[in-house]
Amino acid sequence: MKSVEITKGVYRMGVNIEPGNLFEGIWSIPDGTSINSYVVKGDKTAVIDLTQNKDDFPRSITSQMEEIGVSPANIDYIIVNHMEPDHSGWLRKFRTKNPEMEIYCSQKAVPLVNEFCGIFDHVHAIKDGETLDLGQGKTLQFFDTPNIHWPETMMTFLVEDKILFSCDAFGSYGEVDDNAVFDDQLSSDQHEFFKKEALRYYANIVASFSAFVERGLKKLSGLDIRMICPSHGIIWRENPAVIVERYARYASYLKGPACAEITVIWGSMYGNTAKLVSEVIKGIRSEKIPVHQYRVPEDDIGFILADAWKSAGIVLGMPTYEYQMFPPMAHVIDDFNRKKVQNKKAFRFGSYGWSGGAEKELGTATEKLHWDFLESVEWQGAPGEAEMKMAFQRGRELAVLVKEFASKACD
Ligand SMILES: Cc1cc2nc3c(=O)[nH]c(=O)nc-3n(C[C@H](O)[C@H](O)[C@H](O)COP(=O)(O)O)c2cc1C
Ligand SMILES: [Fe+2]
Ligand SMILES: [Fe+2]
Repeated sequence: MKSVEITKGVYRMGVNIEPGNLFEGIWSIPDGTSINSYVVKGDKTAVIDLTQNKDDFPRSITSQMEEIGVSPANIDYIIVNHMEPDHSGWLRKFRTKNPEMEIYCSQKAVPLVNEFCGIFDHVHAIKDGETLDLGQGKTLQFFDTPNIHWPETMMTFLVEDKILFSCDAFGSYGEVDDNAVFDDQLSSDQHEFFKKEALRYYANIVASFSAFVERGLKKLSGLDIRMICPSHGIIWRENPAVIVERYARYASYLKGPACAEITVIWGSMYGNTAKLVSEVIKGIRSEKIPVHQYRVPEDDIGFILADAWKSAGIVLGMPTYEYQMFPPMAHVIDDFNRKKVQNKKAFRFGSYGWSGGAEKELGTATEKLHWDFLESVEWQGAPGEAEMKMAFQRGRELAVLVKEFASKACD
């Protein structure tokens, strides 16, 4: 990638994590993701977030710095918004090139800088709201925004240009192209792509911190933000409000209601539970509610989380397995607990062979999720006419409930 001038004296540098890698070692990114780093030049020069110490990333960022006349020798400050190694992995090595660089980070980041990087001197812990004047009309202001998504996260605001360097907040999966770095350079298809990728990114890595996102948004609401430069994904230059509103909406799904949509997740060993899936979906569609459908263990949990997060209704189809839930579904529900997929309308359907057990475990496993369950459709062995009818009916009932419950329009 090439460095891009965002506005006079402010630059974006970036690398792409290629498709096929796992983000955080867990999450599928079939279309990759970018890691963005920024430079602000006044009389003094600051780099805001670095990059991962992986592949040719350091080499690529080094050459992008060279393009704009920046080298470790003339960098005065490194602003560390976040200590996750996708942004700070290169910090230890980079700092050896010029140990006089001053690291600015949050108070909570100091022990992480010490322990991840072995750096103990020239580390400055910011006070919330503190400013740093770089000269030439470039003043950086720092804000603690804890738990979006690590405890030590902060954001940096370039006061005169009104640019927010938001690190992981307002980010997205998806590779960024040199020719499409800004929102106003994207086609409508690309906008659609980044909308989906931002939701998946949110559901995978930010969702469980939604209460902190709301707090962070409230804190930043006093700033006149003209541009948002996140550490993953595109820069919001034309319309930063779009991504702020989107994040506010995603965060609100924690308490519900989410969108008037239903996500059906099902698994089946021998096809008995599977037989009801299409009836459930027909029932939901009869009320014109959009349905997302996933099968476990085949489908990817990162995608399931995204649609479940934005759906007001969830349907779980699973049989009993060794007196408990079908294990791939137990895994999904475990992740729902971890990611706080809460406050949904739901029901379960599924077959058992001997004496059941999935139903009971489901009750315990969803205790903390505050889901309102309709009566389950559960039967022994193969489903009959009655179960097929019940599946349609329950699907429709849930759709009606979701329509009433989720009045919010979702784009
Ligand atoms: C490995 C295995 C474990 C099972 N464990 C139980 C069980 O603990 N309790 C029960 O009622 N049925 C149990 N069953 C029976 C299934 O729940 C039953 O065959 C059901 O119809 C499977 O639904 P499916 O066709 O959708 O996979 C088990 C079946 C298998 C293959
Ligand atoms: Fe992060
Ligand atoms: Fe990140």
